[in-house]
Amino acid sequence: MLSSCASRGEEVSTGIRSRVFGTLPDGREVTLFQVVSPTGMTMEVINYGGIITKLTAPDRDGDLDDIVLGYDELDSYLEETPYFGAIIGRYGNRIGKGRFELDGASFELATNNGENHLHGGVAGFDKVLWDAVPFSMGNEHGVVFTYESPDGEEGYPGNLSVKVTYLLTADNRVIFSYQATTDKATPVNLTQHSYFNLSGPSSDTILDHEMAIYADHFTPIDEGLIPTGDLALVEGTAFDFREPTPIGSRIGAIDGAGGEQLEFGLGYDHNFVLSDMGEGMKLAARVRDPESGRVMEVHTEEPGIQFYSGNFLDSSLIGKDGNVYEYRSGFCLETQHFPDSPNKTAFPSTILRPGETYETKTIYAFKTDTDA
Ligand code: GLA
Repeated sequence: MLSSCASRGEEVSTGIRSRVFGTLPDGREVTLFQVVSPTGMTMEVINYGGIITKLTAPDRDGDLDDIVLGYDELDSYLEETPYFGAIIGRYGNRIGKGRFELDGASFELATNNGENHLHGGVAGFDKVLWDAVPFSMGNEHGVVFTYESPDGEEGYPGNLSVKVTYLLTADNRVIFSYQATTDKATPVNLTQHSYFNLSGPSSDTILDHEMAIYADHFTPIDEGLIPTGDLALVEGTAFDFREPTPIGSRIGAIDGAGGEQLEFGLGYDHNFVLSDMGEGMKLAARVRDPESGRVMEVHTEEPGIQFYSGNFLDSSLIGKDGNVYEYRSGFCLETQHFPDSPNKTAFPSTILRPGETYETKTIYAFKTDTDA
């Protein structure tokens, strides 16, 4: 599945290849898949957590650089990671007090974020070894990840069969397709937790990146980052990203409109309610780095998107090539149903029932600001 192509004068070997990335403490091997597209864009993913360890994208001069945060070695991912690059499940983001009721029964989930449940619990889908099968469709390549989550895992009901496909297209898009089925009703909310810095691998913050989020409302949170259940208008607040706005321009405006929300989130760590909440694919967000000209668009079938401005990064993590990941040196755009939906009946439902198939798609598209 390898072939060569000439890209900007360099010979790039397009295709998909794999190698051993490391070994888990229980002796199981972790595999790294390297996908190179015909444009030279490279994606590296491992089957531990489905983690994207590297993703290159061209700047406005056509120079490729790695734009995701992560580590060089498996051991660093095992020691401590703020979910760098991983698949998140069974439930992306928080479930208040780790409790919910479903069909008259009460469920207690693992609590791993104060009194709350976050990103699937102590060992969510970001910390399991997935089965991985590489595939090719012409000159486009990807990996299919599958995982059988047993009944009771992290407190969730039902055996859940999960399939997540990553595909790198020939036009610089990464397509994530999620699927799941269950034998008992259970909440499901899968997402991807890559941290981006479109300037490339550096310790610079993302505060100069211009963010657009096509949302008229967001879901305000309490001190524990659990949605209150309200939908608040972004208009006139620091949460209005309907026009491209530098991330840093209002992030410290705690005395302004939306200020208390910025205090609770320590910056942006909020779910935005997409103006088009329909199930079709729509543009949810667009980010531009003025320095490199790189542009990232997020298209999704989900009703919401968590914009997280890297507020928990604090220079204690040393990443790839010795890069120190400073406060706010990466951002995440996690497409999703809203946090704490199992306890908020007015939010779109996240319950999957036997006989149904959970199916959703998100696309990260990479361009530059000189593209037509
Ligand atoms: C999500 C959450 C944040 C934080 C990060 C990981 O974006 O909303 O509060 O947990 O993941 O550190």
